[in-house]
Amino acid sequence: LCLAAGDTPRLAYRLLSDIVQKEMIDCSGLTFIGLDEWIGIPSDNPGSCSHFLHTHLFGPLGIKHSQVRLFDVTQPDLVRECTSMNEYVRSKGIDMMVVGVGMNGHIGFNEPGVREDLEAHVADLDDTTRAVGQKYFSTHTTLSKGITLGLRQMLQSRRVILMASGQKKAPIIRSALQGDISTDVPASLIRKHPNGRTILDEDAASLLTII
Ligand code: F6R
Repeated sequence: LCLAAGDTPRLAYRLLSDIVQKEMIDCSGLTFIGLDEWIGIPSDNPGSCSHFLHTHLFGPLGIKHSQVRLFDVTQPDLVRECTSMNEYVRSKGIDMMVVGVGMNGHIGFNEPGVREDLEAHVADLDDTTRAVGQKYFSTHTTLSKGITLGLRQMLQSRRVILMASGQKKAPIIRSALQGDISTDVPASLIRKHPNGRTILDEDAASLLTII
């Protein structure tokens, strides 16, 4: 499973943890891959994607460290870290990728205009991502780059679920689902995936035209 952090999947992860605990489901055969991470933010910072996934999912599910591969942003050579992640993804394959959508249409840190054939890479964050990202941190934090799996890996995953909730996501959801399929809105690429599904609440779906 390749998973995003962020506000969107929070409830889904809690419900999953509840079911796993209640029904005593064995998760020892699962492997988790982190979709992305802020560069320069250590994993013990509560705003990091790593901290989020450990707190909201891996901890409650009792997942062992050996079952998890997250981007290590403390590595001095991040290009090498991308290569290592690509090799890991290739060796495992991704059965399911769960992604959110940024206010600018990004998926992971695949920012508008990104190349569709990229695998893991370091990305310059755009102004929207830098500004919106402040919500995860208790004090103002300089966010300039991220490290992320690429759209190629999303398209090669066996299944992709894109989730969005809230009125604020309605305009970008309309662009992603009913505008052109283009890396100007990276989330629109989910429409190229044969097993891509979008799960929206009514607010996020409110600007869609019912055809
Ligand atoms: C986080 C990630 C991001 C978020 C997106 C939406 O790991 O991959 O692309 O999914 O920025 O964030 P929220 O869910 O907080 O609205």
